[in-house]
Amino acid sequence: MRIIKNQLFCLKSIIYIVNPKYFFKNLKGEKCMSKILVTGGAGFIGSHTCVELLNAGYDIVIVDNLYNSNEKSLDRVKELTGKDFSFYQYDIRDKENMRKVFENHKIDACIHFAGLKAVGESVEKPLEYYDNNIAGTLVLVEVMRNHGCKNIIFSSSATVYGDPVEIPITENCPKGGCTNPYGWTKSMLEQVLMDVQKSDNEWNVVILRYFNPVGAHASGRIGENPNGIPNNLMPYITQVAVGKRAELGVFGNDYPTHDGTGVRDYIHVVDLANGHVAALKAIQSNCGTSIYNMGTGNGYSVLDMVNAFVKVNGVEVPYSIKPRRAGDIATCYCNPAKAKAELGWEAKFGIEEMVRDSWNWQRENPEGYR
Ligand code: NAD
Ligand code: UFG
Repeated sequence: MRIIKNQLFCLKSIIYIVNPKYFFKNLKGEKCMSKILVTGGAGFIGSHTCVELLNAGYDIVIVDNLYNSNEKSLDRVKELTGKDFSFYQYDIRDKENMRKVFENHKIDACIHFAGLKAVGESVEKPLEYYDNNIAGTLVLVEVMRNHGCKNIIFSSSATVYGDPVEIPITENCPKGGCTNPYGWTKSMLEQVLMDVQKSDNEWNVVILRYFNPVGAHASGRIGENPNGIPNNLMPYITQVAVGKRAELGVFGNDYPTHDGTGVRDYIHVVDLANGHVAALKAIQSNCGTSIYNMGTGNGYSVLDMVNAFVKVNGVEVPYSIKPRRAGDIATCYCNPAKAKAELGWEAKFGIEEMVRDSWNWQRENPEGYR
């Protein structure tokens, strides 16, 4: 058995060496893609992605200023994976500190989550949003370039499509006018990264446009931990269910949808996390600039989500109909076929797992990480 294994290994090695495809890929660094910088890794999507990266065998280094997160999420990532990693409580706008990170570690690629994300707050504090998201990314990308790290996966958003001209939304759908500074930061940063890649084709830029991430790790140990009153639907539902808020306000029931409430493409955060692992593989084969929708392709209304939550979890979620929320659109869901065809990635979890795991996290951690 051992001899056969050895012979197979030799055969594989010979194929590897003589096959120009593998040889040149190796020269381009495919075999070396092992250390990943995760900015914003203590946050909701970041912490779940760190778990999947560690489980997939990557080494990770996390930079997060903990502005919207808690270091406990990182303890729990360690607990869930049994693996250790370096964490720096730095702001990505701090060029000196970011340099230190790249000097301390030979980073192969960066998954860039760090950013402010509250739509309403961005309208009140545009300068803070442009400074944090845009200036922060400019610093990060400059430091990456100066250290020869030219691989980045960027957290973008379905918000760049504005009020989409086609449903389901493909990546070819034109970007629409954004209705808030947060959305503009995503749209502008997509442009910045595409221009950087155009100027130097050693760069690989993967732009992932997330639809509506919900759910939590099935263990209930990590999840979404919003500060104050939640802006988003799912954390609001879970806080009503756990008794922290009296009732959910449903923003409008007169949209042109099957029940009049807004329709979105909710995606389980663990599926989304695995989308990043798949995107790293694209980077390893030198993809240039690539843009992918990260959604399930299914549209669910607000009431679909509430009804599924009540049915699956057996808890009550009182709600009342409120006026429409300014800036909301009726329907937003994607065609995720490109990510399936090119990354071999597709969402596996459905609405039941999304509402089950969101509730499991909230029930086990009524005060989040506090
Ligand atoms: P989050 O707030 O939970 O995570 C973001 C993390 O970045 C936080 O831990 C925060 O402390 C950190 N951070 C912010 N500014 C920083 C800075 N200057 N330096 C260092 N760290 C900084 O948010 P999330 O939901 O995990 O979102 C991650 C990314 O995905 C964000 O860029 C967000 O805009 C994008 N996104 C999120 C959604 C969503 O609905 N959650 C949808 C589309 C896109
Ligand atoms: N909604 C309610 N009540 C609430 C919260 C939300 O009825 O208390 C409704 C909204 O009107 C909308 C749906 O639930 O119809 C989803 O709203 P979210 O706020 O959860 O999500 P959005 O689609 O408005 O936006 C989210 C993120 C953006 C991101 C976008 C990508 O907040 O940052 O998804 O699709 F850009």
